[in-house]
Amino acid sequence: MLVNKPPMGWNTWNTFGMEPSEDLVKRSADAFIKLGLKDAGYEYIVIDDCWSLYDRDKKTGRIVADPAKFPNGMKAVGDYIHSKGLKFGMYSCAGVRTCADYPASYGHEFEDARTFADFGVDYLKYDYCYKPVCADGKRLYMRMGNALRSCGRDILFSACNWGAEESYKWMRATGAHSFRSTGDIIDSFVSYKNIVISQEDLHYASAPQCFNDMDMLTVGMYGKGLVGSTGCDFTDYRAQFSLWCMFASSLMLGCDITNIDEKTLELVKNKYLIRINQDEEARPPIDISATMNASRHGEFERVYFRQLSDGEYAFCFWNLSDKKRKIFAFMSQLGLEATDGLGFEFRDVFTGEVTGVYNEYAIETVEPRDVHVYIAKLVPMK
Ligand code: GLA
Repeated sequence: MLVNKPPMGWNTWNTFGMEPSEDLVKRSADAFIKLGLKDAGYEYIVIDDCWSLYDRDKKTGRIVADPAKFPNGMKAVGDYIHSKGLKFGMYSCAGVRTCADYPASYGHEFEDARTFADFGVDYLKYDYCYKPVCADGKRLYMRMGNALRSCGRDILFSACNWGAEESYKWMRATGAHSFRSTGDIIDSFVSYKNIVISQEDLHYASAPQCFNDMDMLTVGMYGKGLVGSTGCDFTDYRAQFSLWCMFASSLMLGCDITNIDEKTLELVKNKYLIRINQDEEARPPIDISATMNASRHGEFERVYFRQLSDGEYAFCFWNLSDKKRKIFAFMSQLGLEATDGLGFEFRDVFTGEVTGVYNEYAIETVEPRDVHVYIAKLVPMK
């Protein structure tokens, strides 16, 4: 199965935690269509932990859906999702129990992969809780990778071991199509900032067939739901979404999309940001910020730069501080000198407007925790 672009969709966990249900999933699938999320590229509806009964079926050994949450079973849920032209995601875990203590796939990998195939599943998130100490994590992901490859259905393998055991080095080899690279996000500035910083030296590992999954977005949660925490404001969400796009992360929405506000909706459907995220060359960003004291990364600012296909580029100026800052980018760091006669023409991804052409340096004044993001082209200087 080829996965050439970071997967895009929605997952039940961040907001609904232990309470996924058929009704919620159906309403969310309807919202995907009504709100234009499908047209913007979102396709997977993923049911996370807590969908099954507490124990496997005694006779068949299979995991069984909780009839209180999914009265018509999982196949019916999958059929509904498919009837909307969307794809169906589910969840299991490499250990003996899932993180919320439901049956997991350790020792049942091949049987569970067949069960998911019978349900019509197209995407499996595969977690890492309750792994026996004696078991080798890499082998467990290999096992499920093989199980999915032989189950008779194309199922995207979304590995979720939180970056443990330097999984960015080996997860691609297990057949996984994405690897969760960090611990769980919560809806706060510190949480998403730490996730981004932790991936700065690893983003080269996010490439076609196995993308970095920096966790489900908290964009639009405003402190509500399971991982609500302190909540963020819209500036944070604009930054978070832009950074996930710059880093070619999976884009899994985590807010309640049946109640999503207009501004958030517009943000997560931003065609320029999605174009950056989904760029088929999937080249990594580099930080080209230039600090006054020549330290490698300033504590409070970043300028991520990324080459895109079709001769385009992306720039993201990020102010990590709580004060307005002037942020510099020197084009000579990109191999471009003022004497070359070319400059980067910046198109603001939020307004669609061209804001200028820069050939020696660009200076942006960025509000606290905000980002300025541009898609750029190299053009002759006038
Ligand atoms: C782990 C994962 C989360 C979520 C929960 C479910 O913590 O990292 O994303 O799936 O388990 O219990």
